[in-house]
Amino acid sequence: MLKGSRVLVTGGSSGIGRSLATALATEGARVVVTGRDAQRLAETAAAHEHIDAVVCDVTDAAQIAALQQQMAATGGIDMLVNCAGVMHFFDVTSGYPLDRQLQEVDIDVAGPVRMVDAFLPGLLERRSTIVNVSSGLAWVPYAAAPVYSGAKAFVHAWTVSLREQLKDTSVRVVELLPPVTDTPLADGLNPSFKRMPPDELVAAFVKGLERGDDEIAPGPVETAEVVEQAGSRLHLRSTQQGTRPMTIAHPDRDVSGDPPSTPTHQLQHDRTEDTCWT
Ligand SMILES: NC(=O)c1ccc[n+]([C@@H]2O[C@H](COP(=O)([O-])OP(=O)(O)OC[C@H]3O[C@@H](n4cnc5c(N)ncnc54)[C@H](OP(=O)(O)O)[C@@H]3O)[C@@H](O)[C@H]2O)c1
Repeated sequence: MLKGSRVLVTGGSSGIGRSLATALATEGARVVVTGRDAQRLAETAAAHEHIDAVVCDVTDAAQIAALQQQMAATGGIDMLVNCAGVMHFFDVTSGYPLDRQLQEVDIDVAGPVRMVDAFLPGLLERRSTIVNVSSGLAWVPYAAAPVYSGAKAFVHAWTVSLREQLKDTSVRVVELLPPVTDTPLADGLNPSFKRMPPDELVAAFVKGLERGDDEIAPGPVETAEVVEQAGSRLHLRSTQQGTRPMTIAHPDRDVSGDPPSTPTHQLQHDRTEDTCWT
């Protein structure tokens, strides 16, 4: 399935995207990685002869259009992996700048939407796959990263909707929901949190992809545990079918009206400074 296929991975200059690119190239795919940092992209490309690098910012529609034309001119792509992302920790009462919040939305929400909009026509012309990387936090929001948690919930719901709309087409839609993974993005989290090595995550992803899974969520239970450890007031509830945990997290009050057992500032996050990985 992967052998000979052409794969585009956004956010391939670091972390999960870099591991994914290497693993997919090892499986026989020809991979193009994108990101903003040319030097780190070149390091990813140096890991395997079947990886090429192109600088492309997912917030820049013109750069995406140029990338799409470049890919089309060389045969198009069979798989689009929307992996680029950033995570900002902040307290909404701290005056955290709006432009920083909106930049996070632009990268984590609008970025994958722009990529699918640009590449979907070509993907519809062949048997192809879209992979959207969301997070365990799509199910279990982490109050200390409010925009990120909302963005990942968006990616999850959007992905389910895309899958439904594209079910009778040639395009398969897959969601990867990583748990806390040992990458720069996770550096600012509490060091006691258990981290999955990116290679382990990617191996589980490749297995799930080959098995035909639509949602690949290695270690979601650990993710829920991590968020509980962080002190967010969580109430894990099952849906009526009991298949999916539903979560309500609020620093002051949950929907049952219980008062908080811990002061708000402790419920937030153990870091006070803004942290952003780009
Ligand atoms: N690590 C975790 O615990 C974890 C858990 C769940 C989900 N995830 C998700 O996994 C994905 C990859 O994260 P990671 O952990 O591998 O983080 P990472 O090591 O910090 O990598 C993030 C990647 O996103 C790219 N990126 C950021 N802004 C971009 C932009 N505007 N345009 C293009 N590329 C951009 C970065 O490249 P440049 O800096 O070169 O632009 C980098 O390659 C993200 O979507 C993240 O939300 C991570």
